[in-house]
Amino acid sequence: IWKVDKNVDNLLTYPQIIEAARWLQKNALVAFPTETVYGLGANAKSDEAVKKIFEAKGRPSDNPLIIHISDQEEVAQYVEEIPEVASKLMDRFWPGPLTIILRKRKGILSDRATTSLPTVALRMPDHPIALAVIRASGLPIAAPSANLSGKPSPTKFTHVYNDMNGKIAGIIDGGDTGVGLESTVIDCTNPTPVILRPGGITKEEIEGVIGEVLMDPALQSNDEKPKSPGMKYTHYAPKAPVLLVDGSDLFIQQTIDRYIAEGKKVGVLTTEEKKNRWKADIVLGCGKRCDLSTVANRLYDSLRAFDETNVEIILSETFPNRGIGRAIMNRLMKAAGHRILKQSRSIDGRNIV
Ligand code: TXA
Ligand code: MG
Repeated sequence: IWKVDKNVDNLLTYPQIIEAARWLQKNALVAFPTETVYGLGANAKSDEAVKKIFEAKGRPSDNPLIIHISDQEEVAQYVEEIPEVASKLMDRFWPGPLTIILRKRKGILSDRATTSLPTVALRMPDHPIALAVIRASGLPIAAPSANLSGKPSPTKFTHVYNDMNGKIAGIIDGGDTGVGLESTVIDCTNPTPVILRPGGITKEEIEGVIGEVLMDPALQSNDEKPKSPGMKYTHYAPKAPVLLVDGSDLFIQQTIDRYIAEGKKVGVLTTEEKKNRWKADIVLGCGKRCDLSTVANRLYDSLRAFDETNVEIILSETFPNRGIGRAIMNRLMKAAGHRILKQSRSIDGRNIV
């Protein structure tokens, strides 16, 4: 464990950063903070190094990794071409929580990292520690979120420690991450870019720079096959099942009461504004409804916090499907296995409750 203050000057010459970078050069795994979630880094040019990521996470080998770089200039080495929309997005949002999919130049990056796809996902994170360790290593760094596959992504050092301790060379403890949800993934290999995963940069912000973009239809329904391989797996799930409840306060409390009447210990995932309304076994406030970025920031920690309790079902409020709310709802829907109970309409998920 290397504890590093992200605010110190000259991180590039910091002994802990240099040591972490050396391990990356030796093809070992190092976890480090980014502005979204902690990443589990490996040398993206080495099959041997990248293989360790899939092993440590228990990640399906057909789910490609994002390649992290510290300088926009590096992109040209890894891709066939940089379309104008991609340049505009990089200029505007890098460093930052936007991952751009481009056509891969063959033979440079590990095929295991890109799971032999003809494309590659690239991102320049906006975090001084991430940038310093990538730059110090002199390598492109493949880095998925530093959680065990299926669990909520890590936004605090302790999350990484609990999931990865003993499995990797080291963890840089740089405190809590900022955004709290992963980067937005946008495919720029077609004339009209497609958002494959909503995240830290909103659709609205992207459209402000390059005009209209599409959302992968798989994000709206359960049946479409997602273009981003990672989006098909169950994710972000605490131990107890999650059910989203969309309706009036009365409807939500009635739903809580129904599970209590069945003898279940009920947890409620709510916001500061509504926290005192619910009568249930455990009520966790997760940010403020009036500022959804605070909900994004705390969502994964709240989901993990339920694992420390004895609740048998977690009922969650829903959020408006715009701005950062789109990413919040995407993660909650996945945590819930798409189970959502709506007050007036029928049920929109696979499992009817
Ligand atoms: O914020 C983030 O993006 C974090 C931090 C650590 O940077 N990383 C992250 O990585 O969330 P991961 O591996 O948990 O998610 C990567 C997503 C997956 O859904 C994966 O399928 C998709 O990106 N992806 C990677 N390469 C792709 C490609 N060539 N085409 C389509 N999707 C791709
Ligand atoms: Mg992940």
